[in-house]
Amino acid sequence: MKSLAGETIVVTGGSQGIGLAIAKNVAAKGAHVLITDIQDGSDAVKEIEDAGGSAEFRKGDVTSEESMRAVFKDTKIDGLVNNAAYFAPLMIPGNLKPFTEITVEEFEKVMSVNTTGVFIATKEAVPSFNEGARIVNISSGTIMKGTPGFFHYIASKAAVVGMTRSMAKELADKKIRVNAIMPGLTASPASLQAGEDRIQQRAEASQIIKRAIQPEDVANVIGFLLSHESGMMTGQVVNVDGGNVFY
Ligand SMILES: NC(=O)c1ccc[n+]([C@@H]2O[C@H](COP(=O)([O-])OP(=O)(O)OC[C@H]3O[C@@H](n4cnc5c(N)ncnc54)[C@H](O)[C@@H]3O)[C@@H](O)[C@H]2O)c1
Repeated sequence: MKSLAGETIVVTGGSQGIGLAIAKNVAAKGAHVLITDIQDGSDAVKEIEDAGGSAEFRKGDVTSEESMRAVFKDTKIDGLVNNAAYFAPLMIPGNLKPFTEITVEEFEKVMSVNTTGVFIATKEAVPSFNEGARIVNISSGTIMKGTPGFFHYIASKAAVVGMTRSMAKELADKKIRVNAIMPGLTASPASLQAGEDRIQQRAEASQIIKRAIQPEDVANVIGFLLSHESGMMTGQVVNVDGGNVFY
């Protein structure tokens, strides 16, 4: 029997990129995947079904309690991946800037999706969790490096680490495990907007494993954190960055 057979895993922002790779990973392990995103996820569902997996799409905005409540309504779940983020728009060339030029509106936009969105999605998911459920929050390796141009993004993703630890303690007596992952720059379609060469150059300059990180490299580790094999891990932050930063 497949390791996640009979389980339902929700992936926020699962229509593309790393979220889609996570959805495919857990579907291959037998889970039913519920993809929620502000953009249409029907192509993602088709891709999973064509590969023999089980998936559905429910439109949902992590910044809205009402929207997330509707996504989880009458649904029991075994896993939640807080993957949705305001990330792709930042990677459009010209959009990154020094923090002194970031407006309060731009800062709050990033925080509302990447930080408040994790809070809202998780809070609304709690009544739906089966005993033994797992949560994986996606932070970012940028928080270890203070990468210039990413001030608001770094603030939002550093908060995710703190929330992970707090959630792990508060949800432990419900037997829910909560971990976070910090990917390095990953060759998702969002990052590729900044140029494939740039990702390869970054790999060669700062990683000790000198190849570009692929969405599947990140999804494989998240798949482990969602599995029963990581049953004694909670409140942890796992770094998947080709040995860029030791943590
Ligand atoms: N790609 C990288 O280099 C990298 C590195 C470290 C961390 N991350 C993180 O990994 C995750 C996935 O990254 P990606 O490269 O696939 O990015 P992406 O921007 O392609 O994917 C984000 C997804 O979230 C969805 N989304 C945006 N706002 C939403 C909202 N309000 N409600 C619901 N869904 C929403 C988008 O539609 C998209 O499908 C993000 O959390 C990102 O911050 C990415």
